Amino acid sequence: MRRCIDLGWMGKPNVAPNPMVGALLVYKQNNILGQGYHKIYGSAHAEVMAVDSVLPAQRHLISKSLLYITLAPCCIYGNTPPCTSLIAKNKIPQVIFACQDTTPGVEDESVPILKKAGVNVMHGIKKEEAFKLFQQRNCFLKNKRPYIIIKFAQSKDNFIGQAGKSVWLSNPVSKMLVHKWRSETGAIIVGKNTALTDNPRLNTRLYPGKSPLRIVMDRNLEIASSAHIFDSSAPTWVITEKKKSDYKNIKYIQHDFGAESLETILSRLHEAKISALIVEGGAKLINSFIEKNLWDEARVFHCDKTLTTGIPAPVIPVTPSRTIKVANDDLKIYYR
Ligand SMILES: NC(=O)c1ccc[n+]([C@@H]2O[C@H](COP(=O)([O-])OP(=O)(O)OC[C@H]3O[C@@H](n4cnc5c(N)ncnc54)[C@H](OP(=O)(O)O)[C@@H]3O)[C@@H](O)[C@H]2O)c1
Ligand SMILES: [Zn+2]
Repeated sequence: MRRCIDLGWMGKPNVAPNPMVGALLVYKQNNILGQGYHKIYGSAHAEVMAVDSVLPAQRHLISKSLLYITLAPCCIYGNTPPCTSLIAKNKIPQVIFACQDTTPGVEDESVPILKKAGVNVMHGIKKEEAFKLFQQRNCFLKNKRPYIIIKFAQSKDNFIGQAGKSVWLSNPVSKMLVHKWRSETGAIIVGKNTALTDNPRLNTRLYPGKSPLRIVMDRNLEIASSAHIFDSSAPTWVITEKKKSDYKNIKYIQHDFGAESLETILSRLHEAKISALIVEGGAKLINSFIEKNLWDEARVFHCDKTLTTGIPAPVIPVTPSRTIKVANDDLKIYYR
């Protein structure tokens, strides 16, 4: 199952909002006959990849093997046929999976189908470890909004930056790590002041992978069209109260900046099937997410530099779950 979980993680950059699933066909305890993972949204499921990977000379052993999966096999027609049918068709005698699927209409459905087909089923193996694969997707399904990751860097004296001045706090390794996170996430949002002060590109130029959808809150359309955020490297949404026609990769979303503005953006992202969002700053935007309890995880780089004055860093209202050393930065991870 540990191997299955590793396989599942390999789908991270491309499967959202589908789950990250790994599968392994094992013959007589320790012989791996086939393996696979769900690679790209809409493509073959892990179980299909595992069955297809078995060598022709060994295919007769499939009906004598155990199928390990990180998630209960699907039992409905989506972009692909149900994996419960694949298991029955190949006469796989036993299925062992880690977590139940929380997709409405699928939850707890596949076990009775498999049992009816004569398949022995065992589940809950390494459930806690495998659960991390499905955290973002489960949040997306349950709350009908993306999993929200707050991310920022703060100085030794707890400032996020200085008004009107671009200040770099974290080290180059942390910067590259952030680009990796971007490549694994559907969308990224910043406030107007951040776009004006830092002129960020918000893409993944330091890490291979696709750039996320960029979103900027700009009530009065104050950001110049020459800003990096409007370059052609990624699709961009501008949330504004003004009316403006879309232009190339830039979509202007006219929006009431009232009390429910964040909720409305989040439901639009849900409609667009974006299952994870990074809130990259600045302080005002991050604080508005925290005040509304609209966050799931925070990744905060505690850096070596001292600023003396500046914009106070947001305060994450829980204690960190862990601290990771990233060169000379301390990366603290918090869960709501
Ligand atoms: N250290 C880091 O990791 C990091 C990251 C990002 C930014 N920064 C720094 O942070 C500073 C900017 O932060 P900031 O707090 O001044 O500004 P900000 O959060 O970047 O932008 C604030 C503006 O964005 C709009 N906005 C934000 N939240 C909104 C909401 N919930 N609903 C509607 N509109 C919203 C508002 O624009 P309107 O006033 O037009 O309504 C608001 O005035 C810069 O100095 C930048 O360098 C640091
Ligand atoms: Zn399936």
